[in-house]
Amino acid sequence: MSNPPFLSNCSADTIRDAAAALKAGHLVAFPTETVYGLGADARNPDAVKRIYDVKGRPADHPLIVHIASMNQLEKWASEIPDYAIALARNYWPGPMTLILKRTDLAGDFITGGQDTVGLRVPSDTIALALIQEFEKISNSAIAAPSANLFGHVSPTSAQAVASELREYLENDDLILDGGTCNVGVESTIIDCTGKHPRILRPGAITKEMIFDCTGSELVFEASDIESAGIRVSGSLENHYAPLATVLLDQSPIVGQGFIALADVPTPAGIVRLASPNNDEEFARILYGSLRAADESGLTHVVVFQPQGAGIAIAIRDRLRRSANGR
Ligand code: TXA
Ligand code: MG
Repeated sequence: MSNPPFLSNCSADTIRDAAAALKAGHLVAFPTETVYGLGADARNPDAVKRIYDVKGRPADHPLIVHIASMNQLEKWASEIPDYAIALARNYWPGPMTLILKRTDLAGDFITGGQDTVGLRVPSDTIALALIQEFEKISNSAIAAPSANLFGHVSPTSAQAVASELREYLENDDLILDGGTCNVGVESTIIDCTGKHPRILRPGAITKEMIFDCTGSELVFEASDIESAGIRVSGSLENHYAPLATVLLDQSPIVGQGFIALADVPTPAGIVRLASPNNDEEFARILYGSLRAADESGLTHVVVFQPQGAGIAIAIRDRLRRSANGR
């Protein structure tokens, strides 16, 4: 088992060291506002291959390229529709990934051989500082999936990254600690290759927010994604799964874990894992609570899903998949 440095003091020096590590072909796990990412130089095929090896991820599942600002958009993407520009202007930096036709810079080793690339400008301060510093010294960007093993729950703290990946990382890799992620579920992925935007993965940037800024009708249907042959690993029916069996909207029985909004009382003998006060807090605590269930050896976790729109749609999307198990 190796021991990659775990850096909690993310000073300017730390950011410079982390950017240098990326440039040298090492991996750097870093916080974003959604979940932690496992980063590599997006122009270095060997470094990117290590991401797949560490995660145990199939090679044909594309990676998101994290760029420093909208100014980098045209380096990586072509044929950018006006509505994608509007989305980028309104919601970047932020929890939104745009799928666009790629340029030659986005190699097959990033896109899984597809002719599109996923791009995101995150808003987390450490993420942005790292991407900017790396762009400055290498003229490149950071390819990063969520920093978990394939199919597992995404990490929302540096400790969660370490417990998922420590034994697969090397001594020259790094884990940057930026505390707990603010949003807590992965970015909204929007396919911008058609006439209208299409949501491939719901997140904190909601259908209403997309409509507000583009005025465009849009769709989200998992069956569309599958029949279009688009490989979005997050769209697999088994994903985001803890070891414990996740049960949705049923009465918990004695000894089971339980996650529900704060106004739902805890039945006797049940292990209450979290009581979020609203849907945003629900998203923020969800993955950490599922991990806590595993850490305390619970075999079953019952979740009362938040109803309604907004980020509750993303929460239900992830929960449905995690309920399918590993
Ligand atoms: O919030 C997030 O998006 C986090 C943080 C680290 O940025 N990243 C993340 O990456 O969730 P990942 O790899 O775990 O999930 C990204 C999803 C995958 O399902 C991948 O297949 C899909 O985005 N994706 C990436 N590029 C794509 C493309 N060109 N076309 C379709 N789907 C794509
Ligand atoms: Mg992931």
